[in-house]
Amino acid sequence: MSASAQRVPAVGNSHLNIVLAMLWKNLREEIDATLARDPAARSRLEVILCYPGFHALVCHRIAHWLWRHRWLLAGRLVSHLGRVLTGVEIHPGARIGRRLFIDHGMGVVIGETAEIGDDCTLYQGVTLGGTSLTRGEKRHPTLASGVIVGSGAQVLGPFRVGDGARIGAAAVVLREVPDGATMVGNPARQVARGSGSLAQRPAFQPYAVCGDIPDPIARALNGLIDEVTTLRAHVHELGQVQQAKTVERYAPSDGSAFRVAVGGNGTDENRAHVMGEAE
Ligand SMILES: CC(C)(COP(=O)(O)OP(=O)(O)OC[C@H]1O[C@@H](n2cnc3c(N)ncnc32)[C@H](O)[C@@H]1OP(=O)(O)O)[C@@H](O)C(=O)NCCC(=O)NCCS
Repeated sequence: MSASAQRVPAVGNSHLNIVLAMLWKNLREEIDATLARDPAARSRLEVILCYPGFHALVCHRIAHWLWRHRWLLAGRLVSHLGRVLTGVEIHPGARIGRRLFIDHGMGVVIGETAEIGDDCTLYQGVTLGGTSLTRGEKRHPTLASGVIVGSGAQVLGPFRVGDGARIGAAAVVLREVPDGATMVGNPARQVARGSGSLAQRPAFQPYAVCGDIPDPIARALNGLIDEVTTLRAHVHELGQVQQAKTVERYAPSDGSAFRVAVGGNGTDENRAHVMGEAE
């Protein structure tokens, strides 16, 4: 056998080794993400054996590879097997980033044109669905990084859910969600807006509950109250300056007694009337 013919299988093997190493690295990241985000998970082996979200993800990685290589029916078939095994339906065309954690899994549906960034968490019963039937266009949402979607939430349409956003359990989200926002209800409304920056974001909160982000309406009211207090202090100061100037202007130059009455009823306390003349 010639030297070049001997080299071919060696190159093929090293390529395979690289692919397998990358695959294992990605899977290990996903297992570790589960361990980090589920207080109930005890070991890697437990995650590998007992976590349907992890099984669904492994099936999806294979199905997506087949789909991208135009093995469309095979991709659909693997995706379907994954659904039968786990109760999680992920279309093989969906694009999923790293370290996705699907907790409990059952009833999760992820549509064909959905995209999911890194470090996202989905609970059971979540739908990333479409509202249009037009083939070939983007119909499903895009989740940016670090998004948490509560159980039973429906995110419907081709819009973006911003970095670090949190979707409450059973929310129905029909519009774009800003970075760091928390959306609850049907149709979903925003109840808090934290920092969108990944660096400033608080660590992962199991079940997406974080007590230290105030309601935005309460926050706006507090801001207004602070503003009013500051303005009152300024007005009071101005009133005192005005009063001092008035006294100075009308005070008799001979130093005789002078009577000033300050008018007003509390809200108008800064208006000074010069009442008296030199007595
Ligand atoms: C939405 C969520 C992230 C909010 O957490 P938070 O920032 O701590 O917010 P709070 O609990 O202070 O609630 C803020 C307001 O939103 C309301 N709210 C919270 N979650 C809600 C929900 N899922 N649906 C409707 N309203 C909700 C609260 O009643 C409160 O309303 P109020 O200001 O009128 O009293 C959290 O409640 C949630 O739903 N997490 C998902 C948990 C989950 O799916 N677990 C599955 C485990 S298997």
